[in-house]
Amino acid sequence: MKGVLALLALVAAVTSLENFSGQQVLRILPADEEQVNLVRELENYEDLQLDFWQGPTKPEKFVDIRVPFFSLQDVKVYLESHNIQYSIMIKDLQALLDEERRDMKIGRSMENARSTNAFNFATYHTFDEINNFIDNLVAENPSLVSKVVIGRSYEGRPLNVLKFSTGANRPAFWIDTGIHSREWVTQASGLWFAKKIVTDYGRDPSLTATLNSLDIFLEIVTNPDGYVFSHTSNRMWRKTRSPNAGSTCIGTDPNRNWDAGFGGGGSSSNPCTETYRGRAAHSESEVKAIVDFVKSHGKIKGFVSIHSYSQMLLYPYGYTTARVPDSAELDNVSRAAVNALTSLYGTKYTYGSIISTIYQASGGTIDWTYNQGIKYSYSFELRDTGRYGFALPANQIIPTAEETWLALTVLIEHTRDNLY
Ligand SMILES: *[C@@H]1O[C@H](CO)[C@@H](O)[C@H](O)[C@H]1NC(C)=O
Ligand SMILES: *[C@@H]1O[C@H](CO)[C@@H](O)[C@H](O)[C@H]1NC(C)=O
Ligand SMILES: [Zn+2]
Repeated sequence: MKGVLALLALVAAVTSLENFSGQQVLRILPADEEQVNLVRELENYEDLQLDFWQGPTKPEKFVDIRVPFFSLQDVKVYLESHNIQYSIMIKDLQALLDEERRDMKIGRSMENARSTNAFNFATYHTFDEINNFIDNLVAENPSLVSKVVIGRSYEGRPLNVLKFSTGANRPAFWIDTGIHSREWVTQASGLWFAKKIVTDYGRDPSLTATLNSLDIFLEIVTNPDGYVFSHTSNRMWRKTRSPNAGSTCIGTDPNRNWDAGFGGGGSSSNPCTETYRGRAAHSESEVKAIVDFVKSHGKIKGFVSIHSYSQMLLYPYGYTTARVPDSAELDNVSRAAVNALTSLYGTKYTYGSIISTIYQASGGTIDWTYNQGIKYSYSFELRDTGRYGFALPANQIIPTAEETWLALTVLIEHTRDNLY
């Protein structure tokens, strides 16, 4: 009976998993404003079911679109008839995802579950595996690490935050990964950061000095419902999983849901889009939990929210072209952080304010944290620049985490040495 149930569960899991067979990611290069608008118009054809991974923004800036098999011909004909240049970035998305699944099966082992020393950081992990890792890390390092549950997701999952602390009432530095659930390299990097912190404390003088004056908070799975859904149903799920009144489309973009320019340009009022802002600022419990935590803590001095992909280090603002008062300093620190990152494997990053570097985005996390008085607010877009996009192969997890840690260290140390 147990075997039959397990088999049924397996069949259900397999059959409900969206198949991306034959789907392609096209990289489009609009030459001028007119072509940008033509590409933008594609967003209005809902029956094409396009998924805009990047852009459109402006002429000469590429746009990456995931195109379902049944829309491929139409989209290619449309682009060719308007003489818009494009290339095929990913020929068959499912082929990449099949490889990812194979890696996960191989990477999973009993040792993973028992101790963080045997944990395989070079593969992607499920929500349960990550929670198990978190509990092990706390059990193994009780005087350094604790788990704080800052709230519940829409579907009732715990919003677990790791707290690294060596003393009471310290100012703090916050890091979150995975607020967009499909950006799997971010949660995977978060796991590696957690282990890195406990390994280096007491050994690495700088990290030790940091933890002797600052607490570090790390939320690894910031959008757990989306993350679980990206494993069980649709690998390309980005938003939360809360329903929307009057629409069959599910989810809000948790990086458009913050009370900073809420509802402005670069966010959508249409629940069926990937950038839907939600019915009101902080409507998403995953966002509200961080808002409440930041406010009640009162001494968060640095805040980093980690995304992928594009290889960028960003600071506020995203909703307005107005420069933040600290822009010269943030730019300076960003340059140093990016240089540190690049020094390891040569990975090239760009940096600057969100609106000048990537695009206008309203209601974003770090605009809100900055306006709350957290001067050192940054956001990363990790690897890559689009060769694999959200389907970054697992063999890039550790190098990505290692290089990002070097940049994070610059940001954290600057905060530590410039407390305000
Ligand atoms: C996806 O669909 C293709 C073509 O229909 C099929 O060959 C393949 O086995 C499916 N893959 C999965 C993982 O279901
Ligand atoms: C930027 O960095 C330079 C050199 O590292 C420093 O001299 C300067 O004061 C910094 N400017 C700001 C605004 O932090
Ligand atoms: Zn993102």
